[in-house]
Amino acid sequence: MSDSVTNQFEKLFSPVQVGPITVRNRICETTNSMGASGPNSGGLIDEHFIAHHVAKAKGGTAWIGSETWSLPQPFPDCAAPDMGVAAGAMPFAIYQMPGFVESVARFCDAVHAEGSVAVFQLTVLNHMLSPSSIPTTELYDLVPHTMREEHIEFTLDAYAAAAAAALEAGADGVEIHCAHDTVPETFMSPATNKRTDRWGGDATGRTLFIREGLERIRKVVGNKMAVGIRANGHQARQGGYDLLQFREMIYIIAETGLIDFVDLDVGHCWGRHAYVPPSYHAPAEKREAGQALRTDLDEKVKILFTGRVNEPGIAEELLQAGICDLVGMTRAGIADPDFPNKAREGRLLEMRRCIGCNRCIGEVVHGKLPAQMTRPTCSVNPMVGREVEWEEKLKPAETKKHVAVIGAGPAGLETARVATLRGHQVTLIEQGSKIGGQLRLAAKAPGRDSFEDFLYFSENEIERMDIDLRLDTEATPQGLLELKPDVVVVATGSTPRPLFEVEGAETGHVVQGWDVLAGKEKVGNRVALCSEEDYFETPNIAEAMAAKGKQVTIFHKWSHIGSEIDRYSYGTVMQRLEEAHVEIVAGYRLKKVEGDTITCISGFSGAEKQFNGFDTVVLVGGSVPQDALYYKLKDNYPFEKVYISGSAWLPRKLAEATQMGASIGLEI
Ligand SMILES: Cc1cc2nc3c(=O)[nH]c(=O)nc-3n(C[C@H](O)[C@H](O)[C@H](O)COP(=O)(O)O)c2cc1C
Ligand code: SF4
Repeated sequence: MSDSVTNQFEKLFSPVQVGPITVRNRICETTNSMGASGPNSGGLIDEHFIAHHVAKAKGGTAWIGSETWSLPQPFPDCAAPDMGVAAGAMPFAIYQMPGFVESVARFCDAVHAEGSVAVFQLTVLNHMLSPSSIPTTELYDLVPHTMREEHIEFTLDAYAAAAAAALEAGADGVEIHCAHDTVPETFMSPATNKRTDRWGGDATGRTLFIREGLERIRKVVGNKMAVGIRANGHQARQGGYDLLQFREMIYIIAETGLIDFVDLDVGHCWGRHAYVPPSYHAPAEKREAGQALRTDLDEKVKILFTGRVNEPGIAEELLQAGICDLVGMTRAGIADPDFPNKAREGRLLEMRRCIGCNRCIGEVVHGKLPAQMTRPTCSVNPMVGREVEWEEKLKPAETKKHVAVIGAGPAGLETARVATLRGHQVTLIEQGSKIGGQLRLAAKAPGRDSFEDFLYFSENEIERMDIDLRLDTEATPQGLLELKPDVVVVATGSTPRPLFEVEGAETGHVVQGWDVLAGKEKVGNRVALCSEEDYFETPNIAEAMAAKGKQVTIFHKWSHIGSEIDRYSYGTVMQRLEEAHVEIVAGYRLKKVEGDTITCISGFSGAEKQFNGFDTVVLVGGSVPQDALYYKLKDNYPFEKVYISGSAWLPRKLAEATQMGASIGLEI
């Protein structure tokens, strides 16, 4: 390690004392509940969970927050557990299950063996019972019932019992979760705590619940563990607390001497501003909250600041500026669990950065498949959730082969990288002049430039591994015969779906959204964007045109746009469209284009309606595979095996493309 590298991250890699524990550096995995246990674990920590979170400890993350502990909530006799779970309440908690403490102890031992600390989060959600019967968010309708004194007592005791279990298992710390739709945040907020008893009123009253919870925890753990709170620096809601009110409350809590740290983030679970900030947000955008707390509190209370810090350089900057003492780099570690070691060793070009796409959290919250069929997901790191499998499979191949990968989009890039890691000789053939495929296109939208980080990573890996990349080269069966690979992987991507059923779609002023983003097609001043797509493409293309001064109206077939977008990104996406004056007409599907008039059909009643005055009609509606080469090669040419991958096979999002690409690389 050179001196310049050590100095570059001097503070980041220096140890820090948090209450009774010494943390070897300042990099933290704040709690991220990904469901990393395998489907057969019965909810206990198993080898998958350990492999997932401990990979970060091995990679150099010093503080492992792993996954939250949902605490039990008061249940009346005869209430079936599923009745409460549907409302967001837990009749019993995982820490009360037989075998749980032992499983946590195994986890803590594994974390300690890597030199890191294990800190657990204790969570009680506010969906069912809350200080007052007030909707817990402004964006989504969760209206809880009011907690009675006995409910409060039950909950406070649950914190103490869970902390005792954590201590028994050998944990280094616990935090009461006081942010993100939890009962403690709801107590803190003047918008949701309307109580007139001792649990409400001024800042002292509104923090009593938290102070009482901490008191009970301290009674059982004493000074054997670090104890803290996770808190939201200010609330983006009408009547919620602002940063000044927050500072007063945290000061009151810290004055008790009960906390060793404040784990600080800013935002809520429902969009603007979200505590899992998507790519549209600048790194550490809410850093002023850290600065404020660091100024207010005695330095014995450590501040852990989190919020889109995906670069060790930014983390160092925050520490040097005295904004915080520890830095949450949670998704940074999902995208690349080894990033701290790479940074410390000066291997910065090898780091795979989190691009802020929020697929990871979206999958947890909106996953449509049964839990047994899903795993933790990351768009850029195909190993996530498959660590145990990768450990077995990422071994040098027994027979080294020559592999031709056709197409340098995300799927092809991952096959090339993983196959090369396993010792194969790879020729990567791309017909365009740059690598990246659809990802390069997606990165052209406003607020999405971080998507290019994956391409920088891939470019560096191609160079570092000396992969034979042939740009501007069309792969033909004849050319492949001459190249003589053993195996061919066709990852040739897809093209935009023409809306065949639309009358007039062939006219000159009807263009594809992808072509607009690529700069291949120009649009007039008034644009109708007709969408049959439910993820980010529609708002991103609309925003890209609005940013060029176009007046954009989105016509979408469903009742709202972006129904596949995670709730943490949704608020930001909608805010940006609102600010760009993009109009949305929901529930209408395009039927016909004639001159400046479009005819749409209501998806609900079937009635037709005309809208006019458009210079250009932009279509966003899925893709068709470019699979001709695969079907030509398959079975007809003397290659050992021909694979098809990525969106040349099925409509894919980035995570599926990288996962499929990597799994072919593991199999060959
Ligand atoms: C998949 C996922 C699950 C999360 N679950 C929790 C949770 O259970 N409790 C919590 O306090 N924060 C949770 N978070 C938020 C993270 O702790 C962190 O604040 C957030 O990811 C922003 O930090 P980052 O930009 O470093 O990723 C979760 C984040 C992710 C990505
Ligand atoms: S899924 Fe996206 S946001 Fe989540 S860690 Fe991976 S790159 Fe980052």
